[in-house]
Amino acid sequence: MFRPRDEYAEPYRIKMVEPIRQTTREEREALISQAGYNLFSLPSEAVYIDLLTDSGTSAMSDAQWAALMRGDEAYAGSRSYFHLKESIKDIMGFDYVIPTHQGRGAEHVLMAAMVKQGDRVLGNMHFDTTEGHILLRGAEPVNCLRDVGYRVSEDVPFKGDFDLEKLRREIEKDPRTVPFVLITVTCNNNGGQPVSMKNIKAVSRIAKEYGIPVFFDAARFAENCYFIKHLEEGYADKSIREIAREMFSYGDGCTMSAKKDALVNIGGFLATNNESIYRKAIEWQIPFEGFVTYGGLAGRDMEAMAVGLQSVLDELYLEDRIGQVRYLGELLIEAGIPIVRPTGGHGVYLDAEAMLPHLRRDHFPAQCLAVELYIEGGIRGVELGGCAFGREDPVTGEAIWPELELVRLAVPRRVYTDRHMKMVASALARVKERAHEIRGLKLTYQAPVLRHFTAKFARE
Ligand code: F0G
Repeated sequence: MFRPRDEYAEPYRIKMVEPIRQTTREEREALISQAGYNLFSLPSEAVYIDLLTDSGTSAMSDAQWAALMRGDEAYAGSRSYFHLKESIKDIMGFDYVIPTHQGRGAEHVLMAAMVKQGDRVLGNMHFDTTEGHILLRGAEPVNCLRDVGYRVSEDVPFKGDFDLEKLRREIEKDPRTVPFVLITVTCNNNGGQPVSMKNIKAVSRIAKEYGIPVFFDAARFAENCYFIKHLEEGYADKSIREIAREMFSYGDGCTMSAKKDALVNIGGFLATNNESIYRKAIEWQIPFEGFVTYGGLAGRDMEAMAVGLQSVLDELYLEDRIGQVRYLGELLIEAGIPIVRPTGGHGVYLDAEAMLPHLRRDHFPAQCLAVELYIEGGIRGVELGGCAFGREDPVTGEAIWPELELVRLAVPRRVYTDRHMKMVASALARVKERAHEIRGLKLTYQAPVLRHFTAKFARE
């Protein structure tokens, strides 16, 4: 199924390096306390191995750096826009392209064009900025992920799939209030879990029955295609490009955070085959993002994106990238650390509830684990649990907790070596040894939306 990792090495040579520095434990204790126990508030120089996100953190290739020099910085009609458009048409088959400063810019223009108050946007599991945009429109985000997608230790493929019955039930409540269905590939919030082609096809068929458009959140589309190739019957002999073409043929368009699978540090786009959606989206694009042919980006950024979108389809690259994530997962399993199974495309997700069973939800176990991993090894992950996804009931003020209490260790693309992964595993093994001594955190400050970015904590 997957080639063993010792049968190949990284399919690239390293041409340029960026030094990183280890801090002492005492320094880290002081830094994290000053940061209010929130890892977003740390200066990145105080981090040794930064697994906060795989977004905008990729190492670009020599071809991409060369492409930067070809950027056409014209305000209108930039040549680089047309290169980007060609690359998207070639891979995804979509005719209309709106560049945006990043993925959430694309979400904004799509939602503003299509979502109105009282609507319900159905998806497998919306990412948090997507959810934020839906809420900002006065609409409701509805997740239709199949149940197994929430069961962390169940090792089955395609845990990003929709529950098709639930999707139909939600549509039938009132199809007129569903502006589109959004398929997030891979599904970030439950572990970078892929969606199968069979499921995508079925979602598209159901939506079409009701005349509802289908969009993809394509941030990690190539990683999803790689899983389809290796895990789904009938795809082993197809290229990633062919699989991507088929996948996108089931939709009307996509939003894309190019900071992931376009291997660039900034950028995004909305692409569609629907001219009227495109026209409406442009009305929001121009005042918020910039003119149609640059959308908040420099011409050089669009050039690097056009190249990155092509190179991410390289199977040797994807084998190494997803193989590295799986390798980290295997090291952690060997060390007895509870993780979401199977490992997904872009990171390993730690099950903080299983690792710190003595802590209550309002002790924020995932935040505690993320803090301890930083103190132990200077490693920065991100909490995806009660702080990121919990909220207070607006009427009763009671806490509403999400299903999962996870810490994500997102692996940047082509940035760290397997030795870095080993360091992460050994630091976590040491945290595990003293897990029972770890005390809870209490929230001392929270913003009304997306509170995890700026929250402050104190030790219990
Ligand atoms: N959709 C998905 C599935 C994402 O993971 C992200 C970002 C976005 C949309 C928004 O894109 O950041 O370019 O505006 N995810 C990052 C992460 C932040 O760390 O997972 P953006």
